Amino acid sequence: MTPTPTLAIVGAGVIGISWARLAREHGWTVTITDPRPDLADIVTAEFGDDEKVRATDDLADAVRDADIVQENGPERLPIKQQLFAEIGAAAPANAVLATSSSSITSSEIGVDLDADVAARLLVGHPFNPPELMPLVEVLPGERTAPATTDRAVELYRALDREPVVIRRELPGFVANRLQAAISREARYLVQEGVVSPADLDTILQNSLGLRWATIGLFEGNVLGGGPGGIAQLLAGVGAQTGGIEPGVPATDPASMRRLVDAVEETYGSGEEVYETLARRRDRRTRAVLAALAAVDG
Ligand SMILES: NC(=O)c1ccc[n+]([C@@H]2O[C@H](COP(=O)([O-])OP(=O)(O)OC[C@H]3O[C@@H](n4cnc5c(N)ncnc54)[C@H](O)[C@@H]3O)[C@@H](O)[C@H]2O)c1
Repeated sequence: MTPTPTLAIVGAGVIGISWARLAREHGWTVTITDPRPDLADIVTAEFGDDEKVRATDDLADAVRDADIVQENGPERLPIKQQLFAEIGAAAPANAVLATSSSSITSSEIGVDLDADVAARLLVGHPFNPPELMPLVEVLPGERTAPATTDRAVELYRALDREPVVIRRELPGFVANRLQAAISREARYLVQEGVVSPADLDTILQNSLGLRWATIGLFEGNVLGGGPGGIAQLLAGVGAQTGGIEPGVPATDPASMRRLVDAVEETYGSGEEVYETLARRRDRRTRAVLAALAAVDG
């Protein structure tokens, strides 16, 4: 690997700018492209006169020297297909071509691409914000070369991320499927009046959230069974809780409106609230990561 790789960011929204921050924290060179007219202002506001960050509205220019291209444009298949046709034509022949896509697979994006471009294309799905959340779900598509997956994993590790290669392209991949399952139940419980949004968040943060920041779900099952392990858990408490049917939240517009109102009543909404909550999230996430790093050495 080159000592300080070059990352090309395509799409400088929430996710793209966060990837760029992460790469700069690791000393990488970053080029950023986006058709938005305020691109130069955004990049200057974020990175000042940093010589290793360059903004350009020319996509081909942005990806020309990339070791990895990370695309973070809109979650729309035709846009991503068009972007990767252009990226494939302009990026170096050995560059990894990754999309941050949350739902669209690289098999779909690459269906009409030349074989040598499709072979270098995959999903590198981060959790928001990528500069703090270690997970990157790496999803090779039907035409992705195994060497591309290996190289992507190597590059994400060089950014201190925790890449996990997903073996099948299912909608929502893995992390968002888990999130969707819990979110469905949470919405159902709030809609049914079992808990308020604030109480639901209190419950989650003080039980599963804290547990899962420290140990995994299956690891927790092993511990939950005591010395008898997961087998003991599944035969005991698990035999009772395992039969609970998940609730189905209402999704009609009026029910959704009531849910939105209840959550906004708790947390507020708008630019100022977003900034305040995002700062708090980042501060607390950094604290947890630092504490884990300190305890694990
Ligand atoms: N927001 C999240 O929580 C999250 C998490 C993981 C992955 N993702 C994925 O990351 C991608 C970006 O999401 P986001 O939340 O940053 O969106 P966003 O709306 O904040 O940013 C999208 C950016 O793409 C730019 N854009 C539009 N057309 C473009 C083009 N032709 N070429 C280059 N850039 C273009 C827009 O100007 C905008 O700056 C999506 O694929 C999304 O699924 C989002």
